[in-house]
Amino acid sequence: MNSADTSRDTAVRVRNLRRTFEPGPVVALDDLSLDVAAGEFVAICGPSGCGKSTLLNMITCIDRPDGGTIDVFGRSLTRMNGAEADAYRANDVGLVFQLHNLLPHLTAIENVQVPMLGIASDRAERVRRAEELLDRVGMSHRLHSLPTTLSGGERQRVAVARAMANKPRLILADEPTGALDSITGERLLGLLVDLRDTMQVTLIVVTHEQGVAMMADRTIRMLDGRIDG
Ligand SMILES: Nc1ncnc2c1ncn2[C@@H]1O[C@H](COP(=O)(O)OP(=O)(O)OP(=O)(O)O)[C@@H](O)[C@H]1O
Ligand SMILES: [Mg+2]
Repeated sequence: MNSADTSRDTAVRVRNLRRTFEPGPVVALDDLSLDVAAGEFVAICGPSGCGKSTLLNMITCIDRPDGGTIDVFGRSLTRMNGAEADAYRANDVGLVFQLHNLLPHLTAIENVQVPMLGIASDRAERVRRAEELLDRVGMSHRLHSLPTTLSGGERQRVAVARAMANKPRLILADEPTGALDSITGERLLGLLVDLRDTMQVTLIVVTHEQGVAMMADRTIRMLDGRIDG
């Protein structure tokens, strides 16, 4: 395999990542290196405060490292300027959080369209795509419901549809099942695995739950800002 193939098959390549926070300083990431293959589902586990969310924030380009490099599908995040980072976040990554973060005054189908604004200019096309995504996550019967009228699991399904809005190649989820009971959580994970299989996304999921880790292709344990083991 030549080097061009290697970069295409690697979704995320992290090298010697370091992030410290003042005061302290707290070393949140300590010389961390990691490769995630395209199409892989990686679960990240580890105790509270070990740096999981900090790592995800780096891969999302929400936060920048003090040292080290991050490449996503062969592009260097560490070299991106602010505008490039904004475009990367809008187009290339989908985010799912522990709490759905849906806009409370917008319906399910409107929430899914929010990331498309400014990217897909045709309203009919946005609506069609939002309907298709909500159908994929099993929510086509609640297109016009407000988030407050949905169950926790249903809200997370809408949040997953929203994360897929701009056809990202990478989905990052930080404790997506943390607020759900275990059966609802497993169903949500099943849905993410389904999307991985049908839409060829790469999945990185931070979780405390064994059940989630069981469904992943690989589980990475973190401890004190490093990969454990
Ligand atoms: N903005 C910040 N300012 C100061 N310290 C921070 C900041 N963000 C994170 N930290 C510290 O960095 C360390 C790693 O935090 P991080 O949120 O990445 O942990 P985590 O593994 O996601 O934990 P949890 O499982 O509780 O969500 C912690 O000690 C945390 O207090
Ligand atoms: Mg966290």
